[in-house]
Amino acid sequence: MDYLQIQGIKSLNGTIEISGAKNASLPLIAMTILAKNSVSIKNLPDVVDIKTLLKLLTNLGATCDFHDDKVLVDTSTITQTKATYDIVKTMRASILVLGPILARFGHCEVSLPGGCAIGQRPIDLHLKALEQMGAKININAGYVEASAPNGLKGCNINFDKITVTGTANIVMAAALADGNTTITNAAREPEVVQLCEILNANGVQIDGIGTAILTVHGTAGKCIDIKEFSVIPDRIEAGTYLCAGAITRCELSLSKVEPKHLGAVLSKLEEMGSSFTITEDTITIHPSQDIKPVKIVTQEYPAFPTDMQAQFLALATQADGVSIIEERLFENRFMHVSELQRMGADITLSGNIATVNGKNQLCGTDVMATDLRASSALVLAALVAEGKTDIHRIYHLDRGYDRLKEKLEAVGAKIQRLKE
Ligand code: EPZ
Repeated sequence: MDYLQIQGIKSLNGTIEISGAKNASLPLIAMTILAKNSVSIKNLPDVVDIKTLLKLLTNLGATCDFHDDKVLVDTSTITQTKATYDIVKTMRASILVLGPILARFGHCEVSLPGGCAIGQRPIDLHLKALEQMGAKININAGYVEASAPNGLKGCNINFDKITVTGTANIVMAAALADGNTTITNAAREPEVVQLCEILNANGVQIDGIGTAILTVHGTAGKCIDIKEFSVIPDRIEAGTYLCAGAITRCELSLSKVEPKHLGAVLSKLEEMGSSFTITEDTITIHPSQDIKPVKIVTQEYPAFPTDMQAQFLALATQADGVSIIEERLFENRFMHVSELQRMGADITLSGNIATVNGKNQLCGTDVMATDLRASSALVLAALVAEGKTDIHRIYHLDRGYDRLKEKLEAVGAKIQRLKE
């Protein structure tokens, strides 16, 4: 296995180009199941989760042609509808194929995703909504067996909790349903908005895009033609590199970024002392030398994103004072805390609240990545730690960060990718 070795306290300078959003790409790839044509997708990030989902589709019989700047996905050749455990266990977002496969083929078997490092992450809301649309759902030997031989019916869905992939799944199922589906308490994340915008631009009328109430006008089983599109920039990758500028107190610029998607993140960084120069698709962070402590509560978009919690926790170790970080979405998303404590961070955990008693002088050591965003928090800590930090199990990082080592190296970080 590979590990990252980072030499701390190096100054960074330059511009980092932001890649396409992993969490937009996954539903958009699943959406190709609704298309009768070969769909051209631009700006997909080069990360493991994208490769995993494309492999899942090819296992079902679809074809994927990779070009320099785009991938062509043709699902008209799909011959089977079972997403097997070997793939689903590596990426729970595989559940995103359930809605579209069921809508298009009338039956689908998807392995239950199983546990996940950051929490139990059930899919009950996905399944309940599909049943409301007329699907018959069985759980059998670790698989969800869904059938709707006469197609899905539009209806009113009210999500008890806001669910990002749950909303995406039902939007895609509703796209081919007979009649209209209204989804109340829908997720408003930019990744869900782009899915709706693309469907709406290609024959599936959707009202209320960007709001918590969506109405999808189903095509009654007719597949659609989808024109080429480009994936939106990854707001979490962008937020992570802004934190790299803040934690090292170095001016960094981001290009190909969408500032509108980063409102809560930018305002928390401003509270901690940074200022910004922002254009339509670039952000330059002007960090303060003294970092102020912060209070953060993670909530659904447009509030502060849970996917930025670990990165801000690392940043808070460099603040002068006590920061309070509350995780409200997942029950076990503080596994980076013990690794940061080993580097010298003064953090106390009480339930889902982390109290960070900054400012801490971090020291480089061996640390272990436990999940995707936790690993990026360790990278940030290593950038300001004294000495060398070896970050192990970086396969977690590879799932969602496109060429992180190269991007940081290009702006001056002393970072190597080595073999254990
Ligand atoms: C998406 O996960 C993201 N993944 C996650 O990003 C992100 O952390 C999460 O949304 C919250 O923003 C993708 O988009 C691929 P949820 P998702 O359904 O859809 C509960 C990353 O780092 N829930 O919005 O799985 C659930 O347990 C990843 O890129 C149910 O109870 O999250 C959680 O507490 C990590 N029943 C809350 O809802 C359900 O059926 C929000 O989960 C579904 C969800």
